[in-house]
Amino acid sequence: MNAPTMHTERMANNKKIAIDGPAGSGKSTVARRVAEKLGCLYLDSGAMYRAVTVLAIRHELPAGSPKLLSRVQKCRIEFADNGKIVLLDSEDVTTCIRTPAVNKRVADVAKIPEIRQEIVKHQQRIGAAGSIVAEGRDLTTIVFPDADFKFYLDASVTERARRRLAELRSQNVQTTLAEVEAGIRTRDEKDISREHSPLREAEDAIVVDTTHKTIDEVVDVIVAQVQAR
Ligand code: C5P
Repeated sequence: MNAPTMHTERMANNKKIAIDGPAGSGKSTVARRVAEKLGCLYLDSGAMYRAVTVLAIRHELPAGSPKLLSRVQKCRIEFADNGKIVLLDSEDVTTCIRTPAVNKRVADVAKIPEIRQEIVKHQQRIGAAGSIVAEGRDLTTIVFPDADFKFYLDASVTERARRRLAELRSQNVQTTLAEVEAGIRTRDEKDISREHSPLREAEDAIVVDTTHKTIDEVVDVIVAQVQAR
C-alpha cells in the first residue's frame, strides 16, 4: 500500500494514544475530539477496512481472494482534514464507506490476515510520523502494543445501537433500532471471535463504560489521564 498523506498539526513529542472498542462505543467521535484537543493526528483505522470493503464490493471480489489482496497492496488510502475525509486512490469515499452494504461485509474482509497485515503496516507508518490518537479494534493490542496510553471504550449493545441509529437517521438511512442492534451484534460476534487480532481489552488498557456518559465526559476522562502524566 502506498504512503499516506495526512494534513494536521502534530504534537511535539511522539505520543501514541490507542483506543479500542466495539461498534457504537463512541470511540470515533471521542478519538477525533481528543486529537483536536491535544493537537495531534487522528487515525480512524476502521475507515481503512471499510475502504478495502468498498474495493471488494466494486470489483465483486470475495474477502479472501488473492485478487482483492493484490488490489489492497496497490491501492492508496489517505485521510484529509485530519481524518474527516477518506480517499481511496484519490476518490472521496467518506460517504460510501458507511453504507449498510459495507457495514454488512466489512467484518468478513477485516478477518483476512493478509489484508490485516497490509493495513497494520500502513497504520504503523502513519503512527511513526508523530503524535497520534488511533482507534479501532486492535490498536492497543497489535498495531501499537507500546502505546503511551491505552483505552477500551464499551457501552451496552442497546445504547450502541441507539447511537448508530441516530447517526444513520441523520444521514437519511431508513432502518429500525432492532435492525441496527442485530447488525451490531453480528459484527461484534465476528470481531470478537475471529482468529486473527480479535477485539479484546488489552491488559494495560483503561476501560471506560460510556453507556451513561456524554461524549464530552469520555473525552475529559481521556484527556485528564494524558495530562496527568
Ligand atoms: O470502527 P468501525 O466500526 O468503522 O470498523 C468497521 C469494521 O472494521 C469493524 O467491525 C471491524 O470488523 C473492522 N476493524 C478491524 N480492526 C480495526 C478497525 C476496524 O478489524 N482496527
